[in-house]
Amino acid sequence: MNEAEFSHGPVATIGAGVRAAPALKSGLSLTLVLALIGSAGRVVGPVVVQQAIDRGMDIEGGLAVDTSFISRLCLIGLACLLVTGLAQRAAVKRLGHRSEEALFGLRSRLFEHVHRLSLEDHNDERRGALVARVTSDVETLSQFFSWGGFAFILNGALTIVVSAVMLSYDWILAVTAIVVSAPLYLVLRRVQRRLVAAYDAVRAANGRVLGTAGEIINGAETLFAYRCGPEFAGRVAEATAERRRAQTRASLIGAFLFPSGEVFGTLAISAVVIVGVWRGEAGGLTAGALVGFVFLTYRLLEPIAELTEVLDQTQTAIAGLRRVLGILAIPVGPLPPSDPIPLPRGPLDIVVDDVSFRYRPRGDEAEEAPALRNVDVTIKAGTRVAIVGETGSGKTTLGRLLARFSDPTVGDVRIGGVSLRRIDNDELRRSVVVVPQEPFLFDDTIIANVGFARPGIGRDDVTACVDSLGLTDWITSLTDGLDTQVGNRGSALSAGERQLVALIRAAVVDPPILVLDEATSSVDPGTEVSIARALDMLSRNRTTISIAHRLSTAARADRVIVLADGRVVQDGPHDRLVVQPGPYARMYADWIESTSVTESTSLTETDGRG
Ligand SMILES: Nc1ncnc2c1ncn2[C@@H]1O[C@H](COP(=O)(O)OP(=O)(O)OP(=O)(O)O)[C@@H](O)[C@H]1O
Ligand SMILES: [Mg+2]
Repeated sequence: MNEAEFSHGPVATIGAGVRAAPALKSGLSLTLVLALIGSAGRVVGPVVVQQAIDRGMDIEGGLAVDTSFISRLCLIGLACLLVTGLAQRAAVKRLGHRSEEALFGLRSRLFEHVHRLSLEDHNDERRGALVARVTSDVETLSQFFSWGGFAFILNGALTIVVSAVMLSYDWILAVTAIVVSAPLYLVLRRVQRRLVAAYDAVRAANGRVLGTAGEIINGAETLFAYRCGPEFAGRVAEATAERRRAQTRASLIGAFLFPSGEVFGTLAISAVVIVGVWRGEAGGLTAGALVGFVFLTYRLLEPIAELTEVLDQTQTAIAGLRRVLGILAIPVGPLPPSDPIPLPRGPLDIVVDDVSFRYRPRGDEAEEAPALRNVDVTIKAGTRVAIVGETGSGKTTLGRLLARFSDPTVGDVRIGGVSLRRIDNDELRRSVVVVPQEPFLFDDTIIANVGFARPGIGRDDVTACVDSLGLTDWITSLTDGLDTQVGNRGSALSAGERQLVALIRAAVVDPPILVLDEATSSVDPGTEVSIARALDMLSRNRTTISIAHRLSTAARADRVIVLADGRVVQDGPHDRLVVQPGPYARMYADWIESTSVTESTSLTETDGRG
């Protein structure tokens, strides 16, 4: 898939991610310094204890305590805690701000990019996948930023500070503590991996239980009819038992995980104390430093547990980032020209100049077969042309190229003598309108659904358009007229009524060129009449290309172009083509036959109001 094109290693992925979301990098060094200072707060305690023992007390001299020194020490300690606490707070705040800013930037960039993708990347299956990516992968990143990223930086800083203080006290003891603690990292990492796998197994088993149980409930009647309920019930029992085994296993691993930190803690402290006592004061190690070391060793173990957990999350986040970058790597659709050429006024002719078009391959497919091959037609301004052909012959594709939803792979499309590639976006939008096969309505009123097509249009203009299409009676028959809410995807209207709204939407733009992709869904006879009349009005005085599924539309057109397998195979007026032996005559004969069959049943059909 195109989306998977970004397949670099983790470091390159993070690098590209930072480039895609530059907010991550801005002010990062100061944040890191603040995090380091903040982490220093965690070693204030051990250092104060060490200083108090070594310099505030005289153990050999009968435990004399220098109270004034210790009070000063405590005050200094408190001040340090205050400063480091503030630094930590600032670091966390900066990290939070930056990551929110970065995510916001990334989300906006993604949506903008998806929006600019060529329509060929917008077919249904891809649209779903893209939306899922933009939402779920950015969510993964957001989770990482809100915890994993912090944990990484703060715990990393803590490890550095603790190790540095340890080394400054006594390097042999420091190495001992680090070497004894290190295996904890490996153990935790292994156990956590297993734990994640075990919980995945639990989730999968759970899914199977729900799946089999749901199937039995939904298929109860069928099972009853064949008297095989008990057999299916056995499957549920099996799935449940499997779930129990998976859960037990996960709990056992979890039970092992929790005490391992304790065990390693004890081991590390014992090692430190043994080595420390063995070295003794002869080795230059004071009593205070040894006690301080015990505390520091605990501090060293703390971040390990968190870091191992974070590593898993990091891997998920990098995978998410990789997919997000993959989306940004998909080339965008046709770009507006930098030096547009204005279109002539009045009706526009269309020249499709030896056009071939190939959709971008999906998945691992080597190459998509061309949807259009060497299509070469000239349409005179003001004519009504019907394009017909079997399903998949390339009609919709040709219609899309006329409105520059994509650029032809080979060849050029010109309107009014100007290549579509040289026409400014706004001008193109005003000049060519496509009424798609399945018009989309937004969850809003009718007037909002047509008004957006021509920004700034007034209510009176819309009413005039409705009137010019002969739809005033229909609009007034609706409860709220033009202010009727159409519901989600226009579900409050019937399929035919949705088409009527789409026709009004095209009429408000009043384009010189109109491409109508006729709907295939059946519509009740009353609405059918309204649609036909509105279409007739709409196609007056403009160049109209109708992609005709009903051959009655083709019969009314000035000219019929027949496509087969992406090629123009017949071209001429209906009256001539229908008597010529060839695909059109066959299609027409089939159509006449099918309508005489459906006509007798259509009165009993409903209009699919949903
Ligand atoms: N977005 C897409 N990505 C890849 N291939 C596509 C895409 N849309 C259409 N095709 C392919 O291009 C060819 C032409 O499709 P097109 O939709 O233009 O046919 P059509 O004549 O409009 O068919 P119908 O009568 O069913 O509407 C078909 O083989 C189709 O599978
Ligand atoms: Mg089509």
